[in-house]
Parts: sequence; C-alpha cells; structure tokens
Amino acid sequence: MKPFIIHKKGKTAKFFLQDCVQGMRENLQPNSVSVVITSPPYNLGIKYSKYDDTISREKYLAWMREWAGVIKNVLAEDGSLFLNLGSKPTDPHVPFRVLQVLEQEFVLQNTIHWIKAISIDKENVGNYPNILDDVSVGHYKPINSPRFLNDNHEYVFHLTKRGDVKLDRLAIGVPYQDKSNVLRWQGKRDLHCRGNIWFIPYETIKSRDRDRPHPATFPVQLAEMCIKLHGVPRAQLVLDPFLGIGQSALAALKLQKNFVGFEIDRAYFDEAVKRVRALH
Ligand SMILES: C[S@@+](CC[C@H](N)C(=O)[O-])C[C@H]1O[C@@H](n2cnc3c(N)ncnc32)[C@H](O)[C@@H]1O
Repeated sequence: MKPFIIHKKGKTAKFFLQDCVQGMRENLQPNSVSVVITSPPYNLGIKYSKYDDTISREKYLAWMREWAGVIKNVLAEDGSLFLNLGSKPTDPHVPFRVLQVLEQEFVLQNTIHWIKAISIDKENVGNYPNILDDVSVGHYKPINSPRFLNDNHEYVFHLTKRGDVKLDRLAIGVPYQDKSNVLRWQGKRDLHCRGNIWFIPYETIKSRDRDRPHPATFPVQLAEMCIKLHGVPRAQLVLDPFLGIGQSALAALKLQKNFVGFEIDRAYFDEAVKRVRALH
C-alpha cells in the first residue's frame, strides 16, 4: 500500500490507511525507528467510528502482544516507546494488564503520569510568591458517581529494549524555585529534571466536532515532551501505529523529525492529513 506523504519543515510525514501490524511489517525496516509515541485503543468501550473497542480482554491482550512484537523489531536498540494508556473507574486495571504484556518484550524504564487537571491548596504550598490562592487548573470529563472520583490522569509508560537508554532530562527541565540551588549543581544552569508528573491540560475548545473530532486524543505537547526527553538530536524517525487525528505527527514535524503513522479509520486519517497540512 502506498502512503500519503506530506513534506513540512524539510521533513516527511508518511501516513498509511492500513492496519498497523500488517503495515509495520510491510513498510518499516528493522531497527529503523527512534521513538514510538502511541495510544492504542484502551478496550474500555470507547465509541470510535470504525474500531470495535469492546473485544474480549483475552483477544485484546493477545493483539497487544502481537503489536508489541512488531514494534520491538522496528525500534532501534537505543529507541524509546512511550505508551499512553488510560482506564475507567469500573475497569481500572487495563493499563497494568497491557504493561504486563509489553514487559514480555521491553523493560519499563520510566512511568510518567500525565495530569490533565489539578487542584492546589494554598495552605499546602507555603510561601511561594506565584501561588496566591487555592487554584484548580485543567480540563477533565466529570464522572457523576457517589463512589468514584473524577479521573484526571493517564499513564505514559516509557519502555526500552534494555532499560538503559540515556535521556535528555533537561530538554524538558524546569527552573529551580530556590535559585541558590543553581550554584550548587555542576553546569550551573537554572534548570533541573521536572520529574515524572507532567501537567498538560487539553486545549480549551469551542466545538468538539470541529476542534477535536476524535474520542481519545492526547495533546500535541505530550508527544513533543516525549521526543524531547528521548533527545531531539538522536530522534531520526518517529512512529505512531495508532495515528488517530495525528497529534504525534504534529509533534514530530514541529521538532523537525520524520514521521510515519498508521490508522484504519478513513475519517480520522483524513483529519490527520488536514491538520498536518495546516501546520505552519
Ligand atoms: C486512542 S486512539 C489514538 C489517538 C491519537 N493518539 C490522537 O491523539 O489522535 C486509537 C486509534 O487507533 C486506531 N486503530 C484501531 N485499530 C487499529 C489498527 N489495527 N491499526 C491502526 N490503527 C488502529 C483507531 O481508529 C483510533 O483512532
């Protein structure tokens, strides 16, 4: 099958309207991919327009295993797989079941918590000059239930072949609050590792159909941070086997990286093409 090719910022994005397992086998060379950023269907009954998200758990996990094996073959020895997974309160174990399957092929090197919304009580913060009051920031889908809390986070499992991939932690570093720390550390840059809690809110949108026509996307910024953490200079080719509306493609091209993606749904595929074409 021929890909749809878009050239942007001197780099190339190739999109295949095809099943990813077959597509990766047919179109990708072994050890050719530096970074995979992806969010497979979660098997939680999400209403996609084509994919059936309600297959049996057994079948789903067998499919995850098959998919992981193909990824292992195309990923470079020092490559990174960033696997985004969410759950729902009535079925909270999905991310861990998938992780167990993936760990048959990969080593879990880092666990990142993608925080979509957070509330901070002023009294817990103390004397920070920039936080003047209690704050609540971000967006989430409210859960109307007397027994469950709103679900404001998802996982990003960072998986590698041997668990020893060197990362560029300062590429997504944050400034020290206490500037006396800057002098204490070698290099004396006002930047330190932000840790594994990443607050990345969804963009505020006016119309779901027009602005985010897909039931389960991650923010472009999440994918950008993963590529930066892996190391922009070392990232040659970025892959997303479950392209959706192309958030990972946008991230790769913004950082001037070649990209390849697979999607089985024509409507999401077309939307990904449209969004990447519109990238400045
Ligand atoms: C969780 S969504 C990914 C959303 C994407 N990360 C984004 O932000 O737009 C999973 C996507 O995988 C697609 N999909 C399901 N099975 C597939 C397969 N076998 N090969 C390729 N894509 C598939 C679905 O149509 C859906 O768009």
